[in-house]
Amino acid sequence: MKLLTKAYSRHVHHRPFILSSIAFILFFCLLASINEVRFDRLLHLGQCAISKLQYPSISTSTTTTNAAFNSSSSSSNATNNLAAADDEIRILIGILTLPDQYPRRHFLRMVYGTQPVPKGAKIDVKFVFCNLTKDDQTVLVALEIMRYDDIIILDCKENMNNGKTFTYFSSLPDMFSDDSQKMLKSDDGNGTTTSSESSPPPPSPPYHYVMKGDDDSYFRLGNLVSSLRPLPRDDLYYGYVIPCPSMDPFVEYMSGMGYLVSWDIVEWIKESEIPRNHLDGPEDKVFGAWLKEGRRGRNRHNAKWSMYNFPVPPSGCTHEFWPDTIAVHLLKNQPKWIETLKYFNATKDLKPSKLYHIP
Ligand SMILES: *[C@@H]1O[C@H](CO)[C@@H](O)[C@H](O)[C@H]1NC(C)=O
Ligand SMILES: *[C@@H]1O[C@H](CO)[C@@H](O)[C@H](O)[C@H]1NC(C)=O
Ligand SMILES: *[C@@H]1O[C@H](CO)[C@@H](O)[C@H](O)[C@H]1NC(C)=O
Ligand SMILES: *[C@@H]1O[C@H](CO)[C@@H](O)[C@H](O)[C@H]1NC(C)=O
Ligand SMILES: *[C@@H]1O[C@H](CO)[C@@H](O)[C@H](O)[C@H]1NC(C)=O
Repeated sequence: MKLLTKAYSRHVHHRPFILSSIAFILFFCLLASINEVRFDRLLHLGQCAISKLQYPSISTSTTTTNAAFNSSSSSSNATNNLAAADDEIRILIGILTLPDQYPRRHFLRMVYGTQPVPKGAKIDVKFVFCNLTKDDQTVLVALEIMRYDDIIILDCKENMNNGKTFTYFSSLPDMFSDDSQKMLKSDDGNGTTTSSESSPPPPSPPYHYVMKGDDDSYFRLGNLVSSLRPLPRDDLYYGYVIPCPSMDPFVEYMSGMGYLVSWDIVEWIKESEIPRNHLDGPEDKVFGAWLKEGRRGRNRHNAKWSMYNFPVPPSGCTHEFWPDTIAVHLLKNQPKWIETLKYFNATKDLKPSKLYHIP
């Protein structure tokens, strides 16, 4: 009995110490974040005890809040994060869609939010459209953004074959630039920052690769990442080459089912005269023409036949389902999506529970 109380009291005595340690760490963090503007550089190295770890993550739907409170890993070794960042692969998948496509976005969030993402990869799936035009959109889309934060609204009027693709790519460098994010944070210029959150500096480049994807394509993120790993991170143009029978990535352009370029090409699209002088026409073909004229995309990868159109009806552009799949296109209706998701075992990670039973 005596022994028990002793052990108990020792246990109790340890608590104030632990609590005060935690309080001290929190206080230090608070101090650091107050002085964030001035101590920007210092913070970049130290990252404090609270750090948004760049876990392999896909940020759509519920998984956006990746800010892990993990004091064991980041505070001690400053070079750790940098070393890890070297190996990281960051991909932006922009799915071009229309503001009113609420159910489609909801569905795609489930499809991509439940796919496992390989270690060392960060994949952001975002929905991209032009200016809102209706009153109800200003409420519904704003709510979506508050909940999911996965929407990009470009400064344009909805159009097809009239430059939306150009607006998409050319807007990204400013949207994700280091400067614009800093400005948002320390805008008042009086040494007090309004943001209480100490986020790590945005990585550079923000994304190694940027994709323009279709909302009737199904991408398998793991296979996408493995196919990109060995490829160059500059001057790359990647996709399913059109015409369908062709296997030569230089003839002619990548299909709108989903193609991807390295970040340097995104910047080139913003800066060069070539794209902005040639906006009209079938968007994806025009995209190929820009690169040809500008002699860009000297690194090319034809992902055929890991990318293909849905097997039915068969055509020169289709392929049977097979495990080595990066993307399936033309999923124009629910039965086609269901068949695809079934084949790729999309629900195999469903946790067993007493709360439901799915045959
Ligand atoms: C902290 O990070 C380590 C190493 O990455 C991990 O094993 C551990 O589970 C993390 N702890 C928390 C609370 O996230
Ligand atoms: C920090 O991490 C790097 C890379 O993992 C390692 O090479 C280095 O020895 C570590 N330094 C310390 C002080 O732990
Ligand atoms: C899009 O909306 C913004 C802000 O409301 C406005 O400044 C801009 O002129 C609009 N662009 C077009 C092409 O309508
Ligand atoms: C910043 O300081 C200036 C001069 O003291 C003041 O006029 C201004 O209102 C301040 N701005 C903010 C956002 O506090
Ligand atoms: C789906 O699961 C089945 C049964 O475990 C397996 O045989 C099949 O290879 C899986 N399919 C894919 C595409 O991974």
